[in-house]
Amino acid sequence: MTDEDLIAAAREAAGNSYSPYSNFAVGSALLFADGSVVTGTNIENASYGLALCAETVAVSKAMADGVRGGLEAVAVTGPGNDPITPCGRCRQVLNELAQLGGTDPLILCVGPSEVRRVKLSELLPDAFGPASLD
Ligand code: THU
Repeated sequence: MTDEDLIAAAREAAGNSYSPYSNFAVGSALLFADGSVVTGTNIENASYGLALCAETVAVSKAMADGVRGGLEAVAVTGPGNDPITPCGRCRQVLNELAQLGGTDPLILCVGPSEVRRVKLSELLPDAFGPASLD
């Protein structure tokens, strides 16, 4: 699985975006240590504030299937003019799954002409996570 493959999976997932209110289709793809990929896309609601982000949907899918770690990389795609970075809530949601497996995943923030590669710990320094409750 190359970065380009993971980005392609995120783009494909964005094709299922339900975003009639923002018209901003986001796709995400999570790559795990065993090579598996779980995708997500944003799902909006007539009650606007209830929108679910693509990354949160992907993490929810994975965790509902029993995944509890091994998160190595995440690709996020969007229609904007700049590389799209996960929102604050999604950073925290990604951090939960990452910390469970002790990884610091690479986040591929995809834009129309460049891919910004950044570690989750750079996007969410000093994160509050599962170990913080010990
Ligand atoms: N969105 C995501 O899916 N992920 C992010 O990290 C940022 C924002 C979605 C939420 C909403 O459906 C749309 O993009 C516009 O904010």
